[in-house]
Amino acid sequence: MAKAKTLYVCQNCGASQSKWAGQCPACQEWNTLVEEQAPESAPKGLGAKKGRKIEFVGLKGAEAQPPRRTTGIAEFDRVTGGGMVPGSATLVGGDPGIGKSTLLMQVAAALSGNMRAAYVSGEEAIDQLRLRAARLGLAEAAVGLAAATSVRDIAATLEGKDAPDVVVIDSIQCMFVDSIESAPGTVSQVRTSAQELIRLAKRGGFALILVGHVTKEGTIAGPRVLEHMVDTVLYFEGDPSHQFRVLRAVKNRFGPADEIGVFEMMETGLHEVPNPSALFLSDHRDDVSGSAVFAGMEGTRPMLVEIQSLIAPSSQATPRRAVVGWDSGRLAMIMAVLEARCGVALGGTEVYLNVAGGLKISEPAADLAVAAALVSSVTGSPLPPETVVFGEVGLSGEVRAVSQTEARLKEAEKLGFTRAIVPKVRARKGKGPGRSMDKRKDATATSLTIIEIDHLADLVARFEKAGAEGRNAPVIRAVAPEQG
Ligand code: TYD
Ligand code: MG
Repeated sequence: MAKAKTLYVCQNCGASQSKWAGQCPACQEWNTLVEEQAPESAPKGLGAKKGRKIEFVGLKGAEAQPPRRTTGIAEFDRVTGGGMVPGSATLVGGDPGIGKSTLLMQVAAALSGNMRAAYVSGEEAIDQLRLRAARLGLAEAAVGLAAATSVRDIAATLEGKDAPDVVVIDSIQCMFVDSIESAPGTVSQVRTSAQELIRLAKRGGFALILVGHVTKEGTIAGPRVLEHMVDTVLYFEGDPSHQFRVLRAVKNRFGPADEIGVFEMMETGLHEVPNPSALFLSDHRDDVSGSAVFAGMEGTRPMLVEIQSLIAPSSQATPRRAVVGWDSGRLAMIMAVLEARCGVALGGTEVYLNVAGGLKISEPAADLAVAAALVSSVTGSPLPPETVVFGEVGLSGEVRAVSQTEARLKEAEKLGFTRAIVPKVRARKGKGPGRSMDKRKDATATSLTIIEIDHLADLVARFEKAGAEGRNAPVIRAVAPEQG
């Protein structure tokens, strides 16, 4: 008999090695290899046994699709793409303590009004769960509570006619399959537990919600493989010191990805924020330098956020650069473009950039707003009041058009802004009607004053002018910008 083989599986990326090493050769993470039992070897080939024929069917089914499971919590329903699909699996990931259990308790309670909802916790005892429900004012909701960690027991319970319509598993890292020897939370346990539960959901037709903890690198611990197995991946994020929480769809087989829902964490649980822009801008002041309002898009929803920057002289050889809510590599790029193409010297200064409200932005459209905040900070002159900014910046300093101009401008208009600094629209080369030309027509349909910027140097020139007129002298080095 062959000796039971052990493998070393990376808890970050799932790659397995035959030897232990300090660093995973696949993803370069340190101290992530954990000893696990090797799975039984797969059969060598199909062999002589014939399979059953599969049947091809048309794209249009005879029966109507079963209705989606909507919660009535509009922000949650929006992120799931209009409610959860029966028989689907949704992964809700997030840092510990961010509010996943709270959110899903609220979701289960909201659903329990017109269907059977079950909440299985492997982390908390029934009393703790009841205490939370009472705190949330949900003690009367008809949610079936259970404290369990064995997937075999859970499977036995969820099978059969009176299976629930929606099942929350909190969390997948606690679950274990007793046929595998590794500890709960390891790659093989997480993978197998999820596989079993997802199969059960597909067969039973219930909507499954798995809670997953995130490691400090921002991936689901034990590991990324889960993301491929489920239909929908939602991340619950936010700064624990802020009350705002953002639920973000990063993958959705039944709806748009990138959609976000915004919540506010209060004493009585998570409350929806129907108009996040107003909230993110509530402390915004027009008259300070270093601040620019970015008209961004989160999924299909426009969202205005304030980008703040601070530039301070530094005596160090490598001045400090700190970014909250944006990509630091992208900041370095914008700074390099400002320096090389527009003559704005930032080399010897400390640069801080912050997206107010604890939101994370990943859109390249924020480039121009970041540049505006930086230049405003360096010149000490604020942007014109009631102004929004958006546009992508290229390496030669050119400002590029971005999508959904109209939606961005509409949102700005709705919130009382009167000016917009936007990319200049060039006529499309080649034949056919230019898409961007159509957009411009939309854009001119707003009441906003549109300021078109073709090159980053145009933006800098505006500040230089404003700075010369205002009380603050510009500190921009006079270097001819290297255009094109
Ligand atoms: P929890 O849902 O337990 O987080 P997770 O499941 O993601 O680990 O939320 C924990 C935090 O939420 C905790 O710090 C307390 C806070 N909280 C509130 O502020 N209000 C509430 O009504 C509840 C239930 C929790
Ligand atoms: Mg929890």
